[in-house]
Amino acid sequence: ALTIEVARHAGVCYGVERALTLAAEAARESRGPVRTLGPLIHNPLVVSELEHAGVTVADRVEEVDAGTVIIRAHGVVPQVVDRAERLGLTVLDATCPYVKKVHMAAEKLVREGYQLIVVGESGHPEVEGIMGHADERARVVSTPADLDAIELSRKVGVVVQTTQTVGALSSIVSALLSRTSELRVINTICAATQERQDSAAELAARVDVMIVVGGKNSGNTRRLAQICQMGCAHTHHIEDSSELEASWFTGVEHIGVTAGASTPAAHIDRAVEKIRALTEAR
Ligand code: F3S
Repeated sequence: ALTIEVARHAGVCYGVERALTLAAEAARESRGPVRTLGPLIHNPLVVSELEHAGVTVADRVEEVDAGTVIIRAHGVVPQVVDRAERLGLTVLDATCPYVKKVHMAAEKLVREGYQLIVVGESGHPEVEGIMGHADERARVVSTPADLDAIELSRKVGVVVQTTQTVGALSSIVSALLSRTSELRVINTICAATQERQDSAAELAARVDVMIVVGGKNSGNTRRLAQICQMGCAHTHHIEDSSELEASWFTGVEHIGVTAGASTPAAHIDRAVEKIRALTEAR
C-alpha cells in the first residue's frame, strides 16, 4: 500500500508559527492598520496572504503613523520598541521566546562584566537585535578567524544566534580558550534547525521519493533538499503543490515530505493532498 509520510519536524518553527498566529489575530481584532516591521517570514505567498488579511509590511517604524506594529520572531534592538511607543503605536511583540532568552543572556553577561561575543551572521536582523542588548565592547564573530581582528578582554562571555550549529559554536569557543583567562558560554542555539535536518535525513533514507516544499531562494530549504538528495536519489524541491508531477510517483510505495523553515503547515498539507490525488488516480 502507498504511504505518504511527513517528516517529524518540518516547516515553520514554533517562533514563526506563533508570530503568524499573533499577526492573524491582530488583523481580525485591531481597529487601526496593522503593519509588520519587515516581512514576517521569507515566503512571498504568505506575505501576500497576510496583505489580503490587512497586514502590510513597513521597513521602519518611522513609516507607520497609526495602529499596530508587529515585531518579528527574530526580535529587534530595544530602541525600536521605544520609538514605536513614543510614536503612540501599539506594539505587538512577536519576538520568539527563545530569542528573548538570548537577549537576557547577553544582558546578564554584560552586567557581570564580560565582553560579549555573539556567534552568528553579522548584519542578520536577529544578531542586530542581540547586539542591541549589549554594550559597545560586544562583537559578532562567525568564524575563528574573525577573532584575529578583535582585542579581547580577560573575561569573555559568549551567546549564539539561535540558528547556528554546535560545530560553529565549538570551533569559536575552542579558539577563545587560549586567548582569555575567563570564558563563559551560554549556548542559546535553538534545536529547530537541527531537528528539521535530522528528521529530513532520517526520512529520506527510508522512502522511494522525497518531496521538499519551500522557496527556491530559501537557503534552509535548499539545504534540506541537499540533505534529502544524499539519502534519496529521487528528491524533488517544489515551491508549490502545482509543480508535483504524477510521473514522479509511478511504481512508488513510500513517499516522504518535508519543508523548509519558511513553509507554513497549510502549504505542507496542500502538497500532501495533491500527492494523494495524483497517486489515487493511477
Ligand atoms: Fe524559530 Fe524561535 Fe527557534 S524563531 S528557529 S523557534 S529561536
